[in-house]
Amino acid sequence: MCGIVGYIGSKDATPILIEGLRRLEYRGYDSAGVAVYNEGRVQVKKYKGRLDVLESRLRENPILGNLGIGHTRWATHGEPSDVNSHPQTSSGGDIAIVHNGIIENFMPLREWLCYEGYEFRSDTDTEVVAHLIDHFYEGDLVKAVIECMKRLKGSFALGIISSDEPDKLVAVRKDSPLIVGIGSGENFIASDIPAILNHTKRVYLLNDMEIAVLSREGVKILDHNGAPVQKEVFEVTWDVAAAEKGGYPHFMLKEMFEQPTALRQTLKSRLISENDDIILDMIRINKEDLDRVDKINIVACGTAYHAGVVGKHLIERLARIPVETDIASEFRYRDPILDKNSLVMVISQSGETADTLAAMREAKRKGARVIAVTNVVGSTVSREADDLLYTWAGPEIAVASTKAYTTQLLAMSLIALKLARIKGEIDEELYSSMREAIYRLPEQAQQVLEKAEEIKALSEEYKDVDKVFFIGRSLDHAVAMEGSLKLKEISYIFSEAYAAGELKHGTIALVEDGTLVFALATQDRLFEKSVSNMKEVKARGAHVIAVAKEGNREVEKVADRVIYIPDTLDLLTPVLTVIPLQLFAYYIAVARGCDVDKPRNLAKSVTVE
Ligand code: AGP
Repeated sequence: MCGIVGYIGSKDATPILIEGLRRLEYRGYDSAGVAVYNEGRVQVKKYKGRLDVLESRLRENPILGNLGIGHTRWATHGEPSDVNSHPQTSSGGDIAIVHNGIIENFMPLREWLCYEGYEFRSDTDTEVVAHLIDHFYEGDLVKAVIECMKRLKGSFALGIISSDEPDKLVAVRKDSPLIVGIGSGENFIASDIPAILNHTKRVYLLNDMEIAVLSREGVKILDHNGAPVQKEVFEVTWDVAAAEKGGYPHFMLKEMFEQPTALRQTLKSRLISENDDIILDMIRINKEDLDRVDKINIVACGTAYHAGVVGKHLIERLARIPVETDIASEFRYRDPILDKNSLVMVISQSGETADTLAAMREAKRKGARVIAVTNVVGSTVSREADDLLYTWAGPEIAVASTKAYTTQLLAMSLIALKLARIKGEIDEELYSSMREAIYRLPEQAQQVLEKAEEIKALSEEYKDVDKVFFIGRSLDHAVAMEGSLKLKEISYIFSEAYAAGELKHGTIALVEDGTLVFALATQDRLFEKSVSNMKEVKARGAHVIAVAKEGNREVEKVADRVIYIPDTLDLLTPVLTVIPLQLFAYYIAVARGCDVDKPRNLAKSVTVE
């Protein structure tokens, strides 16, 4: 996601734009730019890098004017660079736009515009919007914007100015958030409330396909046909600090609740409803390549490694290709057996983790082909890998990874299905049932998030525990590893994840009266065995919190508490099973007064060995 601001009034626009972008940096920060109208023309300054770069350049060469738009970018199409930064402009530079979202049909539009004689300077999807508005402009900016909107598919929050109509700022909202700030003799647009909170607390919350036309005198809201829309003014009650978190007390909680959106964004333009293919545009492996691959190595650290373990199950079960998983810091020193027929997958939210980078370079040195799954466009892994799949979760600020993990799980399922299809290993019934089930995951994730209050109460009941076990079989064991890490890294409670079937070989000796055990039992084919493992620990005095699929009521006869998740295919349950564990870790950490977003001893991206 990106940050958008806009201003029209009598004050100098640039400082207002920069201040607004500063408050939106959590939405994206790989590049930033502004466009300001002054004396007949739109001046643009935009640079790769943090907002500081733009701010210092503007100090050296200020641009004056009291109509402008600004943008801080989280790249999706086109790696971070000056030319790919926003604002993007029409060929003559008279129209400037900023965009948050993904134009899904930008390629056909770009081809058509090129055919019409337009020249493109950037690799972004956004640039097509600037040329399209220019194409339809015949003296009425709003009409040109309406014509443009009719042809766009995907998500777009837009801010638009034109040197031909310097008395207005036009804004559009579809799927990506955009609000209008109402001032006195001045008006604002922003992706999020914090950007304009110092200037006004009165806002319009735009709905999808609504257009706002801002002038110095006022704001008109139109529908996508240009007809006027009546809107209530929303009075903001938050302070600025709270607003940056969207009203949430912590980024981690906000990012957990962003998971349905993050999952939808990651699925966009990859699982196409019109046909049954899966489009992973930057993974160019064909059947010939795959027939040479005798093994896949998945390598990562921490939470990303846990996603890789789920990926192992998915790829082996669907594509029938053997998979080894390694923690990156171990992989690079075990002299892995790799050659030109090897396929290595690295997973990294930041794309900058030193151990993962080193493992990837070791794999490439040995001739392996490398696929990277990362959340940061233009990150080091994205530039050095041979194939690429982005998880479009948006910036993850909290140190404890949540939405990046669940979108990584989604990426694993898409890759596994794609490889299975390429190899011809999957029967059509399973393939289509997997697709349908994947489609439903975002709404099902929302259903699990709605249990937050129930889980908060549970966590407060157990906030004084000194150790917690997470047990499960197969995919449940993989998720148990992630649940245990979440608890440890933000609440500082000792925890261990264990294969439920392995407990009796030693570790069950640690279970005593009152020991808290999270027992994950979501795999239908292993449900009975999972329940018997609960009985084992119960018999030694454990308190058992079970996570099971709705409908499996007999688990209530054994467990002390049960958290139910919506029914889905066994292979896809991890996306849902992990959410109660994330919430439990979060609320228990809050109850213990821990610094949830910045836990002690940890960093968001471990760029040192
Ligand atoms: C997860 O909550 C931790 N912050 C940490 O384990 C993290 O997953 C690990 O450092 C890997 O980071 P990456 O995905 O950016 O490579």
